[in-house]
Amino acid sequence: MGIDAKTQLFGVFGNPVTHSLGPAMHNAAFRALGVNAVYLAFGLDEAKGAALAMRHLNMGGASVTIPHKTEVMAHLDEVNDTARKIGAVNTLVNRDGRLVGYNTDAEGAMRALETRGTIAGKKVALIGAGGAARAVGYGIVQRGGSLVIANRSEEKGRALARDLSAGFTSLDDLDLGGVDILINATSVGMVPRIDAMPVSVEGLTSRTLVMDIVYNPLETALLAAARAKGCPTVDGTAMFVFQAVAQCELWTGQTAPVELMRRTVLEALN
Ligand code: ATR
Repeated sequence: MGIDAKTQLFGVFGNPVTHSLGPAMHNAAFRALGVNAVYLAFGLDEAKGAALAMRHLNMGGASVTIPHKTEVMAHLDEVNDTARKIGAVNTLVNRDGRLVGYNTDAEGAMRALETRGTIAGKKVALIGAGGAARAVGYGIVQRGGSLVIANRSEEKGRALARDLSAGFTSLDDLDLGGVDILINATSVGMVPRIDAMPVSVEGLTSRTLVMDIVYNPLETALLAAARAKGCPTVDGTAMFVFQAVAQCELWTGQTAPVELMRRTVLEALN
């Protein structure tokens, strides 16, 4: 479908966005679905600019990323319940001139995990207490998982555990033997420090599903160690792709082409 006067504008607002994989992924999805829309990357210093651009250009929707996910909330007409509870918006939808904020990070992480089984009733250890961990933890609790937070800073870890009514443990005391699902939601292992691991994998057995949210490199030291022990793994592209899948579905009302979106991301990373 060619670009014409009816083409709807979508995009990502953040800083920096020049390496964003969103444009490749969302434009591939729009094309496959036959939606007359384009998705561009907009570097922005102030969160308010995202809401202004959406209104002035009558954009169909947008992604919001670091560092604007929390700040942007004050400039919207409505923030949905999940995003409010997580305290961050990663998706904007223009509903007939009303700007509505959503958060698809929790849903994305859960759909990534659910490619390997259900979450309800599982013992889940979540490493990290930043914005990403907050979204993932919210999703786990929503799905009925039994959650324990492990974090370097005890104060931040306990605060998140309290907000989610979850347990807390120090990284040293984390007993991986009894854990069904282990998730790294810190940046540990990301380039350039690719040898770093967020936790010792001593005690990890093949019964534990291990997910990393880091996707550069695709196989982090944690995932490599888990695989060596025979654990099933979910790499960082999964959450990233599924949060975009959920965005695409909010914007188009259609079922998103998951495989195409995943392939597009993998090709861009290679
Ligand atoms: P984001 O919003 O992307 O989650 P963040 O808010 O900066 O980022 O949070 C980063 C998380 O990674 C935190 O849980 C942080 O631990 P602290 O709360 O102790 O700071 C964790 N993290 C980052 N670098 C780390 C490291 N080298 N070792 C252990 N944890 C680390």
